[in-house]
Amino acid sequence: MACCGVIFDTIKLLLCMLCDPFVRLARGLVPKSKKSIKGEIVLITGAGHGLGKEVATRLAVLGPVLVLWDINKENNDAVAAKLRASGCKVFPYRVDVTDEQQVVQTANKVKQEVGDVSILINNAGVFSGLPLTQIPRQVVRKCFEVNAMAHFWILQQFLPHMIDLDRGHVVAVASIAGHQGVPYMTDYCASKFAAAGAMEALYMELQSMGKRHIRLTTINPIIITTGLISNVKSRFPCLLPLLTVDETAKRVVSAILKEEEVVFIPGRSRHLNELIGCFSRRTRFKILDYVSYGFDLEDPKQPETVKQQKVAEIV
Ligand SMILES: NC(=O)c1ccc[n+]([C@@H]2O[C@H](COP(=O)([O-])OP(=O)(O)OC[C@H]3O[C@@H](n4cnc5c(N)ncnc54)[C@H](O)[C@@H]3O)[C@@H](O)[C@H]2O)c1
Repeated sequence: MACCGVIFDTIKLLLCMLCDPFVRLARGLVPKSKKSIKGEIVLITGAGHGLGKEVATRLAVLGPVLVLWDINKENNDAVAAKLRASGCKVFPYRVDVTDEQQVVQTANKVKQEVGDVSILINNAGVFSGLPLTQIPRQVVRKCFEVNAMAHFWILQQFLPHMIDLDRGHVVAVASIAGHQGVPYMTDYCASKFAAAGAMEALYMELQSMGKRHIRLTTINPIIITTGLISNVKSRFPCLLPLLTVDETAKRVVSAILKEEEVVFIPGRSRHLNELIGCFSRRTRFKILDYVSYGFDLEDPKQPETVKQQKVAEIV
């Protein structure tokens, strides 16, 4: 009897594996419908600047209640005021997402003052861009704390309610650097690999718990010209452009509304990454060196003072 079970399960799995490419192809060909987020409570971290600000602005016109978190009160309040003036319900909170106590307290405030978050966008991020041997310890810690560990603290506040309802949506802004090592980004890459890995494992965990209706979206952009990463270069901008914040936010919002799972921006960067992954590490480095895309540590426009300022901003 047990043997029949194994045979049945094996056939079922093989069929599933055989159908997978066709299902993916069909999904790619048939445009996915966009969900409504009217009345949903959407929390965005790092909403005071860059991608978070732009995503908030694009979501605001779709009728949700927006909860904006940022460590920079002035920027966050300014974004909230602008969106409120356009008719959106907005609740800004100043919070350092690396401070577990603050996260718990602010999450409780949000639950009392606004309600239960149904869409969580973990977007806040920091970047230093230093050689491994020169990164101050506090910067390494901060990088992991903002880019990866904070996702856990925030998820622990809002995921339980989503699990109870088997409903909700978690979005993590990771990076292409969470899938490919890049020089002078060891801390950043490692933190983004961690964020992307946590989302992958959480997907499996929710499936095994039978919670099939909580959506997870991992966003992996290449470089965006928000200022987070300065001195960026691209030898072949047609192939690997420096993304504008506007086009990136547009794609992020579309991915959220279509409940896409893993999104690379631009889409071709996923295929390039998979292609590069077929080669040895040595050849992968040569390819990266050839395309010359990323952060330029040697750029004379990056004087020591700029580097020091960047470190001071992070810690
Ligand atoms: N800019 C890029 O090239 C790029 C590329 C790929 C992925 N990303 C990712 O996109 C996300 C947004 O990046 P961005 O370019 O908009 O950056 P940004 O610097 O423009 O904005 C980041 C926001 O996060 C906030 N923040 C930083 N630390 C915080 C903390 N401890 N608590 C609360 N808020 C905090 C900042 O105040 C800021 O408003 C990040 O996760 C980043 O790693 C950026």
